[in-house]
Amino acid sequence: MDLISTKWIIHLLLYCLFHGVSCNSVDQKIYIKLNDTVPCVRLLNATHQIGCQSSLAGDVGVIHFLESEENLDWVLSTGPSPPYMVILESHLFNRPIMMKLKNSFSRIAGVAVIKPSSSPIQGFSPHTTCPNENTGVYSESYDPTLAHCNTTVWNPIGNGLSYEEFNFPIFSLKDDNGTEVIRQCYLNHNRVVNGSAPSYPLCAMELSSHMHAVTNTVTCMRRSSNGAFSLNPEVVCDPLGNNNVWGSTKSLNNTATGHSENETVVIAAARLDSRAFFHGISLGAESSASGFITLLAAAGALANVTRENHPPRTILYTFFQGESFDYIGSSRMVYDMEKDNFPIDLDNIHSFVEIGQVGLHNISGLWLHSDPVSRRNNSIDTEVMSLTDVFQKVANDLNISLNLSDVSQPLPPASFQRFLRSQPIPGIVLTDHHTHFTNRYFESMYDNTEYLNLTFPADLPPEQQFTYITDTAKGLAKVATMVARTLYKQAGGADEMLASINADELTVAQMLYGFLVQTKNPWFEAIIIPEYQPLLGPAPPEYYVGVITNNTFTTKLVSYVLANLTGIAVNISRENCTNHREFADDAQSTDMNSYLWVQGVTPPNGTEPEGYCVRSTVRLTQAQSPAFLLKEYHSSNYSTWSESRWKSNIGARIFLVAGHDLEMLTLGVGVAILLISLLLTYFVNSKADFLFSSGREPANATY
Ligand SMILES: *[C@@H]1O[C@H](CO)[C@@H](O)[C@H](O)[C@H]1NC(C)=O
Ligand SMILES: *[C@@H]1O[C@H](CO)[C@@H](O)[C@H](O)[C@H]1NC(C)=O
Ligand SMILES: *[C@@H]1O[C@H](CO)[C@@H](O)[C@H](O)[C@H]1NC(C)=O
Ligand SMILES: *[C@@H]1O[C@H](CO)[C@@H](O)[C@H](O)[C@H]1NC(C)=O
Ligand SMILES: *[C@@H]1O[C@H](CO)[C@@H](O)[C@H](O)[C@H]1NC(C)=O
Ligand SMILES: *[C@@H]1O[C@H](CO)[C@@H](O)[C@H](O)[C@H]1NC(C)=O
Ligand SMILES: *[C@@H]1O[C@H](CO)[C@@H](O)[C@H](O)[C@H]1NC(C)=O
Ligand SMILES: *[C@@H]1O[C@H](CO)[C@@H](O)[C@H](O)[C@H]1NC(C)=O
Ligand SMILES: *[C@@H]1O[C@H](CO)[C@@H](O)[C@H](O)[C@H]1NC(C)=O
Ligand SMILES: *[C@@H]1O[C@H](CO)[C@@H](O)[C@H](O)[C@H]1NC(C)=O
Ligand SMILES: *[C@@H]1O[C@H](CO)[C@@H](O)[C@H](O)[C@H]1NC(C)=O
Ligand SMILES: *[C@@H]1O[C@H](CO)[C@@H](O)[C@H](O)[C@H]1NC(C)=O
Repeated sequence: MDLISTKWIIHLLLYCLFHGVSCNSVDQKIYIKLNDTVPCVRLLNATHQIGCQSSLAGDVGVIHFLESEENLDWVLSTGPSPPYMVILESHLFNRPIMMKLKNSFSRIAGVAVIKPSSSPIQGFSPHTTCPNENTGVYSESYDPTLAHCNTTVWNPIGNGLSYEEFNFPIFSLKDDNGTEVIRQCYLNHNRVVNGSAPSYPLCAMELSSHMHAVTNTVTCMRRSSNGAFSLNPEVVCDPLGNNNVWGSTKSLNNTATGHSENETVVIAAARLDSRAFFHGISLGAESSASGFITLLAAAGALANVTRENHPPRTILYTFFQGESFDYIGSSRMVYDMEKDNFPIDLDNIHSFVEIGQVGLHNISGLWLHSDPVSRRNNSIDTEVMSLTDVFQKVANDLNISLNLSDVSQPLPPASFQRFLRSQPIPGIVLTDHHTHFTNRYFESMYDNTEYLNLTFPADLPPEQQFTYITDTAKGLAKVATMVARTLYKQAGGADEMLASINADELTVAQMLYGFLVQTKNPWFEAIIIPEYQPLLGPAPPEYYVGVITNNTFTTKLVSYVLANLTGIAVNISRENCTNHREFADDAQSTDMNSYLWVQGVTPPNGTEPEGYCVRSTVRLTQAQSPAFLLKEYHSSNYSTWSESRWKSNIGARIFLVAGHDLEMLTLGVGVAILLISLLLTYFVNSKADFLFSSGREPANATY
């Protein structure tokens, strides 16, 4: 009894401390919970923490709608009722304003950014000017004149906001009726009229997104592993990570890892993930989707011809995850190849073709980038020139404007850099920019479908949008055809086959729709496994890499599309297909193939979809940074990014607050009542023998 009651009181006391005023009975506030909010989260690397979080109970502030930059004084110095919750229209969400708010965080409870309906014309990128600056190939030791984007600054408008640390929560709000509610509440209660301060009650907002702040990944992983010895092990952060997707034109024995004799491979790569200040709104339409959709379409265009006339070399398609965070996926694949943990190794690689950002090729044409340092070696230089020759010849046939970037210019940020870090390999990166990015919204929420002109006629019903071939789809299909023909030629394929290799415009249109508009569509429904059907919805998938155990649906979707485009349907029962039953024939074995039971389509006169088995070479491999495998959490060679775990509920709500004095009074009364009850309990406890003695005597009497 003693223990229980004391514990209970301590709980109550803690609860009251954390929740402050909400403990008292005067608390009859009406909360309005806001929908469609996306928080900025806390990430850690070897040395720093970035992003945002709220305090444990959430942060509360008086709402202030920032109308213009001059208006900032009110929240920073003159306003009489800090802390303020600053609501920003998206055009005011820029570095100067955010840094001013950051630097006076005692007056700022948090920031809410209203998600815009249109994009800033002048461009906006919260990323750095030199993405993945320290983990690409261009280090001081590789070539000091190329390190740190000395020759070319790839993302000149990058303002670095995504890499700042904020001491208050920042949320994004959808501009809908919810924002209207806030606006009304603000206008009715908080608006400054003729410079005179508004009076209580004021409209306030609470943002909750508490995360375990732990300084950096080294500290966090140490704390997590120390936890293993305590009774209550608590993991406070998880490494960022996911899966890479790969597939090949010829089956590779997935069980026989390490160097593969007689095998030469042309790697065709693209990046799968993207990020933004708010991870929940990072479509990456141009920055990553344009590249991986083009590569998927090229793989589809090559499926038949490589089955019937396989070229001497194998083409290996790879889709890397987590590249936005210091090349997680590619650094892991290179590591696996070095450790003989992949069906081929680095010496099996003949050459490398990477598809970067290509969605804006209408604006500035297409460009081939190569690495000046490895080209100082004559044999590499010859191979690179022969590769660019193939590209240019194919582009000429297709009437595509394709140019070579300056030989002295380094590669833009690309997965290929991680391969070059290990050994010189001939290769190119295809992009739609010559020097700096054409993309004005790199790794931001504005890199969306409108930016790619992925828009449909206003009167087109949704089910027809899915099959509507936009100019964007036509353009990307043409780029995909060029990539496919080049890959075939580069793999040693015959010239006379080239004309028959064509990427399908409808397939590209459907991929653009499925990956950028909504995943719920007849094609995706037919080609994914039945268990995942509920995950398809009226929105695009999430492209933030996420933490290691979660969020693999986007990756799986890409693998299903690749399996559909490159695999074949085989007549095997569902049970044998999903159980990976050993097949008598070596060529059909699961060493060489992967089998997938997909949902299929419902026949016109049927009610149930007719599932079937797809055989392909598509596989997933881990995309977790080797730093976590090696427990080198301070690594400067590998990505060390981790995400802090959530502590409380994530959310935003608004309500009216009474005056500060009144709140302090009610808090005081609450605390006083508590102290009295505490004393009372103590008294009751200490005198329990006396007070309850009459109740005990009968029990004793039985002896
Ligand atoms: C940048 O490159 C130039 C030559 O291209 C070189 O003179 C200069 O030292 C380099 N700067 C740094 C910081 O390496
Ligand atoms: C960690 O991130 C910060 C902020 O972007 C950066 O300045 C620092 O160099 C990074 N540390 C490592 C080891 O990559
Ligand atoms: C938003 O408000 C408009 C009018 O104010 C109303 O017609 C509409 O139904 C509301 N939408 C939702 C989702 O409540
Ligand atoms: C949030 O969504 C719920 C249910 O859809 C709705 O009742 C509520 O009005 C919404 N809140 C706001 C602020 O729009
Ligand atoms: C694949 O490689 C493993 C290990 O070397 C071997 O045991 C197996 O027979 C091979 N499978 C095929 C189909 O060649
Ligand atoms: C590689 O090719 C050589 C010559 O064609 C052949 O003798 C050898 O068996 C092959 N090795 C493998 C592992 O296929
Ligand atoms: C590939 O071959 C199959 C069967 O021969 C044919 O139905 C299909 O249309 C071909 N696909 C392409 C893209 O040519
Ligand atoms: C989008 O359309 C506009 C106007 O038609 C055009 O100027 C622009 O180049 C197009 N952008 C892309 C990526 O096709
Ligand atoms: C993984 O996802 C589930 C459901 O989406 C969520 O409940 C869980 O917290 C996530 N785990 C981590 C480590 O983020
Ligand atoms: C790919 O999807 C299309 C459309 O559902 C279907 O017709 C085709 O048979 C599928 N191909 C494979 C190999 O599953
Ligand atoms: C499943 O595979 C086994 C072994 O290969 C075979 O004997 C059996 O007939 C298969 N079942 C069906 C339904 O195809
Ligand atoms: C559906 O129609 C096809 C061909 O018209 C026929 O072979 C099949 O038996 C029908 N299925 C059902 C369930 O009626």
